[in-house]
Amino acid sequence: MGDDPVNLNEYQELAKQALPKMYYDYFAGGSEDQHTLKENVEAFKRITLRPRILVDVSKIDMSTTILGYKTSAPIMIAPTGMHKLAHPEGEVLTARAAGACNVIMGLSSVSTCTIEEVASSCNGVRFFQLYVLKKREISAMMVKRAEMNGFKAILLTVDTPKPGRREADIKNKMIAPQLKNFEGLVSTNVEDDAGSQIEALAARTLDSSLSWKDIAWLKSITKLPILVKGILTREDGKAMSLLSLCN
Ligand SMILES: Cc1cc2nc3c(=O)[nH]c(=O)nc-3n(C[C@H](O)[C@H](O)[C@H](O)COP(=O)(O)O)c2cc1C
Repeated sequence: MGDDPVNLNEYQELAKQALPKMYYDYFAGGSEDQHTLKENVEAFKRITLRPRILVDVSKIDMSTTILGYKTSAPIMIAPTGMHKLAHPEGEVLTARAAGACNVIMGLSSVSTCTIEEVASSCNGVRFFQLYVLKKREISAMMVKRAEMNGFKAILLTVDTPKPGRREADIKNKMIAPQLKNFEGLVSTNVEDDAGSQIEALAARTLDSSLSWKDIAWLKSITKLPILVKGILTREDGKAMSLLSLCN
């Protein structure tokens, strides 16, 4: 491929060339037959724009606010785990990129830089993504650390009561790096001779009993706004809006 990449597909190709297979597969892969991953891409292709003519577009401003915070575009950086597998500076670098573009960054619980490192890297609006662990006290501690370090909201992930069966990770016998926020709290040293260490770790630590009542628990331990991340059906969307109306 010649010169600099000009679109996301070309960045993806470069990543494939640059990263060890195990790490590339982690970032690029989905669960099981990867049906949803493929369908998400297809769904975007089905969206066709209807450009209206003779509209003055000499000055375009896509900025808006999310939870009252200014963002240069109506998108956020979704929290994704373990950025140091892709670059030695990890989430700190992502934070700088987000700050430079004035977009909000979601920091994953399972980051390879600490909450504190990311907070002190640069200015920027950041939300902290929370996985609720069986050891609730550790999750509560994460929320406090996010609060103390200026994060503006909690993104509560609710669509991962069980880790997805990521077949590429199983084949690659994916090894978990040190998850910095959990250093000294959760050992990444899990034995899973059969496959992915990440999946084994997630299965051992995530609280799969998480339910609607736990939103109240989270509210009781933080003053930060809570965004529920991973609503996948209209029914749950409706239930969630009723819940927020009641509170
Ligand atoms: C490599 C990778 C790691 C992810 N890690 C997390 C995570 O740690 N926490 C989380 O809540 N979501 C995680 N996600 C899910 C994303 O935040 C996002 O919800 C998902 O990728 C769907 O958005 P997309 O269609 O733009 O990829 C991860 C996704 C990918 C691809």
